[in-house]
Amino acid sequence: MKIKSTQVAVSNSEAEQIIIGHFQNKKDNDQINQLSVEIQSQFASRIKNEDFTGKAGQLLNLYADNGQIITVVGLGENDKLTATALYETTRKVVKNIASTRVNSVTNYLSAVEAKNLDAELTIKLVTLASAHAEYRYEDTKSFKKDSKHKIKNMEVAVNDIQTDAFKQAKAMASGVKVARHLGNNPPNICNPAYIASYATKIAEKHKDCEITVLNHKQMKKMGMGALLAVGQGSANKPKMVVLKYNGGNKEDAPIALVGKGITFDTGGISLKPGANMDEMKYDMCGAATVIGGFVSAVELGLPINLLTFVPAVENMPDGKSYRPGDVITSYSGKTIEVLNTDAEGRMILCDTLTYAQEFKPSVILDFATLTGACIVALGHQASAVMTKTEGLAEDLKQAGLQTHDRVWELPLWDEYQKQLDTSFADMQNIGGFPAGTITAGCFLSRFTDGQKWAHVDIAGTAWNNKKEGATGRPVAMLVQYLINESQK
Ligand code: BES
Ligand code: MN
Ligand code: ZN
Repeated sequence: MKIKSTQVAVSNSEAEQIIIGHFQNKKDNDQINQLSVEIQSQFASRIKNEDFTGKAGQLLNLYADNGQIITVVGLGENDKLTATALYETTRKVVKNIASTRVNSVTNYLSAVEAKNLDAELTIKLVTLASAHAEYRYEDTKSFKKDSKHKIKNMEVAVNDIQTDAFKQAKAMASGVKVARHLGNNPPNICNPAYIASYATKIAEKHKDCEITVLNHKQMKKMGMGALLAVGQGSANKPKMVVLKYNGGNKEDAPIALVGKGITFDTGGISLKPGANMDEMKYDMCGAATVIGGFVSAVELGLPINLLTFVPAVENMPDGKSYRPGDVITSYSGKTIEVLNTDAEGRMILCDTLTYAQEFKPSVILDFATLTGACIVALGHQASAVMTKTEGLAEDLKQAGLQTHDRVWELPLWDEYQKQLDTSFADMQNIGGFPAGTITAGCFLSRFTDGQKWAHVDIAGTAWNNKKEGATGRPVAMLVQYLINESQK
């Protein structure tokens, strides 16, 4: 599907189907008023009969003489329309249309003026929701749906103040799609080598991009003991992918992104239970987030330098696996007692964080499906952010609000650190009960001393029920953060 913006009025839209919003109990609709008298009278009689009141979720299809379908969407009362409701409603409507034979749609939901949503957020929600609804995972289906059942062109109505926000949202949607593709593909396909070759293709498409892929032999020479320990039980050897985008001045310090790329997490010797273990194919969604964010940043041509680090590793039980009790020397030189091989994310991240600092970044953001405890704390609504850098949590929160891809802060107070103490190494790799998300953050903080850094736990947001699969969160939030930084 191609997404474009349009300034064409409803009356001039040549799309096969158009989508218009209507608030509850309003007799009048500015956009309907621009359409033919027939349509206007059809609408007026439906309103009069109270067939259609504009209640949230109500849909009314009107048919013009030229065959155009006008879908009027009930949005409830103006002052009660939330970002979630607008996003979900848009998604539902576009999903419906995507299952029909309609090729071209103009979406006027972005023209809705709701009391609690500014014009920029409105266009972002409508654009992101439309793109989200149109995506269909078919990579591993032998029977692909008829290509006639695809919206080929989606136009989103924009006014002058929405133009930039639309461009941003469109680029975010590209990144979200990449993240969903990587997240949804199965672990026998999307393994470390696949991620490396996928990233290589991205880098080769753009002149401002470069890529380096370290293999396990190179990492062994360097001393990335913690990362390699996790991978040593798998036949799929670890890779370290470093994507570079030079959009800023040569002397500008880069922003560094790090994404957990566990392509499958069995737990290792500390094996996970069987139920829902398949979902651990999503354990590379941190990697998917930063690769998606990278793609969006490049598409926008942001005037920044960006470095994206993806440790891609599979965590398997095997005769060669690392085990509980092992003491591992990390790339930083700090030693780690492994008490649970299922706390593997922090093991690959700590070496990557140490490595990333060699490139003198202005800031490092890491994204990881790191702890089940994060879902207990925040559910599926917000990603958790942890940082000791002043102002950084606020910047990320702000970016989350601007895209309705929200984050919430958890503390990294020193008092939690003692849960990582052990007699046998510099630290242990689990903090035990309670505060599992925070102690995982504390573990990472031991490798980022003196560095501006934030950790984002996306265990609750990166995917949901088996049907939708990967959500592409929090790519939009990340890209918004990068946009905001580029404008500072
Ligand atoms: N990838 C998991 C975290 C996870 C589990 C995310 C379920 C989403 C859903 C991570 O590697 C893990 O296994 N974490 C352990 C840590 C524990 C051993 C300290 C967890 O959360 O149970
Ligand atoms: Mn694990
Ligand atoms: Zn994991």
